[in-house]
Amino acid sequence: MAKQNSPPVEEKKERIPQTMNGQNSLTITDNRTGKQYEVPIENETIRATDLRQIKVRAEDFGLMTYDPAFLNTAACKSSITYIDGDKGILRYRGYPIEQLAEKSTYLEVAYLIIHGELPTKARFEKWTNNIVMHTLIHENIKKFVDGFHHDAHPMGMLISSVGALSTFYTDAKHITDPDSRKRQIFRLVAKMPTLAAFAFRHSVGRPYVYPDNELSYAGNFLNMLFKMTELKYRVDPVLEHALDVLFILHADHEQNCSTSAMRGVGSSHVDPFSATAAAASALYGPLHGGANEAVLLMLDEIGSKNNVLSFIKSVKDGKGKLMGFGHRVYKNYDPRAKVIKRLADEVFEVTGRNPKLDIALELEHIALNDDYFIKRKLYPNVDFYSGLIYQAMGFPVEMFPVLFAIGRTSGWVAQWQEMLLDPEQKIARPRQIYLGPPVRDYVMMGKRSEEKSA
Ligand code: CMC
Repeated sequence: MAKQNSPPVEEKKERIPQTMNGQNSLTITDNRTGKQYEVPIENETIRATDLRQIKVRAEDFGLMTYDPAFLNTAACKSSITYIDGDKGILRYRGYPIEQLAEKSTYLEVAYLIIHGELPTKARFEKWTNNIVMHTLIHENIKKFVDGFHHDAHPMGMLISSVGALSTFYTDAKHITDPDSRKRQIFRLVAKMPTLAAFAFRHSVGRPYVYPDNELSYAGNFLNMLFKMTELKYRVDPVLEHALDVLFILHADHEQNCSTSAMRGVGSSHVDPFSATAAAASALYGPLHGGANEAVLLMLDEIGSKNNVLSFIKSVKDGKGKLMGFGHRVYKNYDPRAKVIKRLADEVFEVTGRNPKLDIALELEHIALNDDYFIKRKLYPNVDFYSGLIYQAMGFPVEMFPVLFAIGRTSGWVAQWQEMLLDPEQKIARPRQIYLGPPVRDYVMMGKRSEEKSA
């Protein structure tokens, strides 16, 4: 298992000493009873349930682990994405993100993430054809989108409309049927750009544009967003490529908040459209996929390079966060941010330089040389520069998390399927430490005291 910050087996330098029976293990002494317990270590991990044998009395529940926000708990085994946060490494199915961003396309990467291997030419053609065949959405979805207020956030529209797809594809609930799963995966990867584009067109009051299946995945998305009265939309190849690379960079990121939501909600065996709506909701938050939107709002608030120093001071004084900086896993430069920074130059050659870039560069420069950020290992993450590119390409800030969601869909469905096929997985159900009142008798309303009433 590729555990956070632990290199894959072939790169390990140090081995943990082994016990007599040849198995790595941890010996725990319970000071309460003096008893010793041998807990096996596998993949540099102990099983939390092995701690349950540690009891004072036979009827005890057994020792639990307490890990708010899952700082040190692996909830699954996965073969999809490997991250080494200290070294700034990200790989999908073993392939470095830099190589995929340079040499591959989003649809090929989506195939890789979902199927585990790069496709042959024939398989890629079939896969592409299957995606293309599913880009249209039911006409009634248009009415559904029409129902939103003119200033509805496109992410809210995307979340609702992807959830609504479960009512159109009722076969999606057959999650144990491999053919059904395959069909829903085609539908989700194919329809997310269409739903996103319809949400955008609704918010700017323009007629919906149907998919043009002669175009690439990213090209068709640009067509559905920006086509006006011309018969055929002409895609700018630089922008098409940039968007495709951004989708690749966002395709998966192992057990982040939205992926955990996809797995957690999917573990109840609900259909994948409903689970994707949950994942997209998790992504919407400003600490996750909403951060790219928050970065742009922050750059607007800073306004000019001259205000950067005072803004950094206010962050250090605890008055807010430097959005687009810091990461739960990366304690080094986010490798995706490096690719995006290079991509920005290509895009700005076509669109003209985004004036906010100077503020962002100054922020990065000052932050990377400031003790507060150095000590906490806070580096730019994927969201720091992506918004500048999106804005230069003509996307309003509200569309930024939507773009993230399109790319991430392949990761969500791959992780969902991996979870379903893992015989060790069950419905997700964390434990808690109950610290509330002990049992007490119900008090009639007239007899309750003011002080005690909440
Ligand atoms: N600006 C200022 N201080 C920060 C920041 C930041 N962006 N991020 C973390 N810190 C501080 C934090 O206050 C804490 O300081 P102290 O030890 O004095 O209390 C310390 O660094 C550790 O931070 P944390 O909150 O314990 O770290 P976390 O792993 O819980 O949070 C994070 C990770 C991404 C939520 C956080 O870094 C953050 O809020 N960043 C800004 C939002 C952002 O850019 N999110 C996008 C993440 S990348 C895209 C994605 O995968 O969704």
